[in-house]
Amino acid sequence: MRYTKMCTEKGIIMKIVETIQEVREQVKEWRKQGLSVGLVPTMGYLHEGHKSLIDCAVSENDKVVVSVFVNPMQFGPKEDLASYPRDLDRDAALCENAGADLIFHPEPEEMYHEDFSSFVDMNTLTGGLCGKTRPTHFRGVCTVVSKLFHIVTPDKAYFGQKDAQQLAVIRHMVSDLNFGLEIVGCPIVREEDGLAKSSRNTYLNEDERKAALILSKSLGKGKALLEAGETDAAKLKAVIENTLATEPLASVDYVEVVDWDSLKPIEIVNGSVLVAIAVYIGKTRLIDNIIWQKEMR
Ligand code: PAF
Repeated sequence: MRYTKMCTEKGIIMKIVETIQEVREQVKEWRKQGLSVGLVPTMGYLHEGHKSLIDCAVSENDKVVVSVFVNPMQFGPKEDLASYPRDLDRDAALCENAGADLIFHPEPEEMYHEDFSSFVDMNTLTGGLCGKTRPTHFRGVCTVVSKLFHIVTPDKAYFGQKDAQQLAVIRHMVSDLNFGLEIVGCPIVREEDGLAKSSRNTYLNEDERKAALILSKSLGKGKALLEAGETDAAKLKAVIENTLATEPLASVDYVEVVDWDSLKPIEIVNGSVLVAIAVYIGKTRLIDNIIWQKEMR
């Protein structure tokens, strides 16, 4: 046990622990008392989007664990692992104010010992969208999330819809591997001007922050088309791509219209559809999406 810190502001006692053993002991204690446990997995640098997940978890469970771990395994060799923002004190204050009971903040060596060599990978759902340009990303996500599920053994776990592909992948993994827990997906939380909240927004300078609005603006145009009854996925993509092209600081990674269950590209909008985009604003890669349910007549 490296340290156990107690935060006592507002009379809530929230523990911060670094070891798997401490989490297990705490959860065992709660289980003995018949309490339910919710888990909010995060990479820290928490914002209102994370807070909405914690709020939901607090309202649905007796006890809530928030994991704060920048998972090296889900970053590619040229990605932003080293520069990913970290601020545990700020995260602890947010968690405590939201009513979380425990933060699990392990060091990488605690999660991945020297000869670590078992991975959780998925054949479907991970090849397109973000998986195309981040080929090892979902293997890293599935592996760490599986480990967290084994460590915390939650009744429910909470994920944001902003990472829509991640949400779909984790739901599928939970079903495939018979994890006995419920996955709760929570809506995207946006800044007042429409930009989806993300820890990576902190990378944006003033001009880039303004330019980043093009993501929600382009999706807004897509949504308006869908609401007007457009079902041609190619037309939808073209409107979004053309809108993104008006912003000089934006360069598109992908614009995709896919079936929300299979994540396979579709030609005609029918049933539940995910319209997902990934766009570089300067050097910062941002994602955003809408999930659209076509009314069946
Ligand atoms: O969404 C994230 O922050 C991460 O991918 C997750 C689920 C915490 C796994 O590291």
